[in-house]
Amino acid sequence: MEQSIVRNKFKELYGTEGALFFSPGRVNLIGEHTDYNGGCVLPGAIDKGMLAEIKPNGTDKVRAFSIDLNDSAEFGLNEEDAPSASWARYIFGVCREMIKRGAKLEGFDTVFSGDVPLGAGLSSSAALESTYAFGLNELYNCGFDKKELVLIGQKTEHNYCGVNCGIMDQFASIFGKEGHLIRLDCSTMNYEYVPFNPQGYKVVLIDSVTKHELVDSPYNKRRQSCENAAAAIAKNHPEVKLLGDADLKMLEEVKDLISAEDYMRATYAIEENARLENTCDALAKGDYATVGANVYATHKGMSELYEVSTIELDYLNEIAKECGVTGSRIMGGGFGGCTINIVPEDKYDQFIKTANEKFTAKFGVSPKVYPVKISDGARRLA
Ligand code: GLA
Repeated sequence: MEQSIVRNKFKELYGTEGALFFSPGRVNLIGEHTDYNGGCVLPGAIDKGMLAEIKPNGTDKVRAFSIDLNDSAEFGLNEEDAPSASWARYIFGVCREMIKRGAKLEGFDTVFSGDVPLGAGLSSSAALESTYAFGLNELYNCGFDKKELVLIGQKTEHNYCGVNCGIMDQFASIFGKEGHLIRLDCSTMNYEYVPFNPQGYKVVLIDSVTKHELVDSPYNKRRQSCENAAAAIAKNHPEVKLLGDADLKMLEEVKDLISAEDYMRATYAIEENARLENTCDALAKGDYATVGANVYATHKGMSELYEVSTIELDYLNEIAKECGVTGSRIMGGGFGGCTINIVPEDKYDQFIKTANEKFTAKFGVSPKVYPVKISDGARRLA
């Protein structure tokens, strides 16, 4: 990403130079909507993210500028100073969450820009939170460890942006490691780096470039359904705190006590956790046929049981099957965004061509293609 764009704007606005920080977006191979259920996920950071220049300004105000939105905001650091622009609330939220944990922050000037496509399910918001959490932690010597930085980003979403997300996105953005996925147990935050170098395959994202208007926060509703089911199961099995602790047999016992919708959502979440375990075993053996079959099964579950797919993403999934792609599925929270595809090298060009032609013919808009490069997490650049 072009550092000079951020540097030049910062100089133009504030007449000086600050420190430069970068945090990436993420992909997730499998384990979708399992993080807030206390299950496991398998994300990796990518080579696209958010770049921010930051410099303390000796006042009690933050002056922020978003290059991509061409918009500025100024705000204080107390709770009642919350800015109204939603992009600025991410920065404000990070500051507040750090202050709540004892950080002594003061005003600063900042400019930021990103190359994570917005609304593509690649966690541009986690990248933004992580950049500021990481950068401010360093500039103000707050001494938070990386796990605390992850939680600061997640709580920003909960308390300032209205999304009850899990910890996957922020974790991948902070902990990312080149060439490795992260097998993360979201109930304990224990993690392990898993080398990811699928010989003979390319991993590519196809962006459906459509984001559906969301009413009444369907992400939070999915989470609520899972918690309803877990609470019903816990009456018989007190050891079950979240669905990550449950199995399908336990769910069957409460089928008649919960809504049909909650039952469907919980079935998906429990099955997805099992698929993740199976995928990790297959990965260790280099068995991409099994990995791919699980990835397709996840798509089916997300589409039919969890109901977070779209007609555009279902269509991309169908095309992938027709083209002999080993595994393909909707990635991220859903309701738009990308599919992630594990494609045999010899089928790659034909797949991209067919996906382009067929998708454009049906929806009148060309999908975007992003080859995946698993990269490092949050860092200072200068
Ligand atoms: C979004 C959330 C994550 C996770 C995914 C679905 O990206 O931010 O916490 O729940 O959706 O797996």
